[in-house]
Amino acid sequence: MKTFVTRRIVIRLLWVVGFGVAGFVVYAWQSAIPPADPPSADSFDADTLRRGAQLAALGDCATCHTAPGGETFAGGRPVPTPFGTIYSTNITPDLTTGIGRWSRAAFERAMREGVDREGAHLYPAFPYDHFTLLNDADSAALYAFMMTRQPVEARPPENHLPFPLNMRFILAGWKLLFFRQGPYQPDAKQDGQWNRGAYLANGIGHCGACHTPRNSLGAEIRTRHFAGGEAEGWYAYAINSDSQSYEAWNADALHTFLRNGWHEQHGDAHGPMAPVSQNLASAADSDVQAIAAYVASVMGKPVPRQHDNAAADPPSNDTGAALYATSCASCHDGTRPLPFGGVKLTLSTAATGETPTNLIKVILDGLHPPEGPAGAIMPGFSGTLTDGQLESLVSYVRANFGARPPWTGVESSVREARSRGGD
Ligand code: HEC
Ligand code: HEC
Ligand code: HEC
Repeated sequence: MKTFVTRRIVIRLLWVVGFGVAGFVVYAWQSAIPPADPPSADSFDADTLRRGAQLAALGDCATCHTAPGGETFAGGRPVPTPFGTIYSTNITPDLTTGIGRWSRAAFERAMREGVDREGAHLYPAFPYDHFTLLNDADSAALYAFMMTRQPVEARPPENHLPFPLNMRFILAGWKLLFFRQGPYQPDAKQDGQWNRGAYLANGIGHCGACHTPRNSLGAEIRTRHFAGGEAEGWYAYAINSDSQSYEAWNADALHTFLRNGWHEQHGDAHGPMAPVSQNLASAADSDVQAIAAYVASVMGKPVPRQHDNAAADPPSNDTGAALYATSCASCHDGTRPLPFGGVKLTLSTAATGETPTNLIKVILDGLHPPEGPAGAIMPGFSGTLTDGQLESLVSYVRANFGARPPWTGVESSVREARSRGGD
């Protein structure tokens, strides 16, 4: 009797599981969109193309879709994730290896739902969880811009992902849990510029892809929007009310920093933030202003900072002090103007921030000018400082310029940065 009842329960459970799996397969399945003849270049007007170019700059498309030394938009750049490496694809309108046969509908489905033309789910290393906010006009302009680029024949290398993450259909489960489809819904309580800024920053600009922390499945934690995240071994500081910046940010400072890549009270954009600001330099100025106004509002009214450890009496650290005096002071005494001179390190969030990651990376690798126009230059010290010296120097900078409680885990951060090497 007992076993009979158990068996009935087991059979029912199997049915439930079976329906669940079948339902998931139906949900996960996406149809292919038939290949289309590419639109002719003169089917797009100049204004649409100009808008498309600005959107591509706001979306950092070229940054991710260009391999080091490769052709623009031809893909093949490794995008590191905690799960493995995913290569960006060729988004030039090449007919065989690019998106030349993608109709506007296919392009829009990729941008808004993360599904490619053939119906395969795309990895969220491609920030479609942000691009989904795009409105119709902007999406059409971006399509026009991409379809009028120079076609390049190129195939990206295979992704390096462990089983089962290399199975694309499981991304349907990820989407079910974490993905919310757009387009952007304006907030009626806010004005037009705020809404424009929110649309751009959270959509095409995907600021949260780096500045919002992620959960163990790689999805941004919505309740911690802009609370600080990771990007390519760098820490992307909090840009909400948790901001650790010594000088409070405001909309003007944000606008200058985003557009020019530096601000005299905040230093310069480096690591993965450097290409973001280089791209924003060619976006529409009113768009960057809207983003700045929105981010300033998310940061809230500046509160006078409590300097918890006000550097009145920093612990003695002769090694650190000596290293600072010989290796850093001449450039960072704040007398040489930015962007080629160094800021006083009190102004750098690298010294006041939550983790020592960026300070260690900047010291080890230095800062190099971007290709093209000259940029800020600082030598790297990876070859001249031992790990012990680097730890003393980092603790010295924190205590004397950060004016915040000492960091824990400096030693392991140094080890991790060393093992990653320069990038
Ligand atoms: C953070 C890096 C990153 C940025 C920024 C980015 N992409 Fe991508 N994109 C990727 C990666 C990685 C893939 C491949 C995803 C995969 O294989 O599942 C991809 C895939 C795509 C695809 C699908 C192509 C195909 O052949 O399957 C399209 C279309 C695309 N991106 C367009 C864009 C556009 C347009 C922009 C700018 C608005 C952009 N991407 C910005 C990383 C990025
Ligand atoms: C040859 C001049 C030079 C030397 C030497 C130098 N720096 Fe720099 N450093 C710069 C320049 C230029 C910048 C970019 C402008 C800026 O952000 O201050 C920079 C940027 C930085 C930043 C990022 C500041 C920000 O914008 O948030 C940190 C942190 C930093 N340096 C620390 C150091 C430390 C520590 C040393 C000593 C080991 C050092 N630097 C030595 C020139 C120098
Ligand atoms: C690819 C990753 C990435 C993206 C996308 C990105 N950031 Fe950043 N951002 C960083 C990193 C890393 C830093 C820390 C290094 C530095 O200060 O430049 C940073 C620094 C900043 C800072 C300086 C904060 C401080 O306290 O010093 C601001 C402001 C900022 N980002 C705003 C933005 C905005 C607004 C966007 C969207 C338009 C954005 N970022 C997009 C990675 C990113």
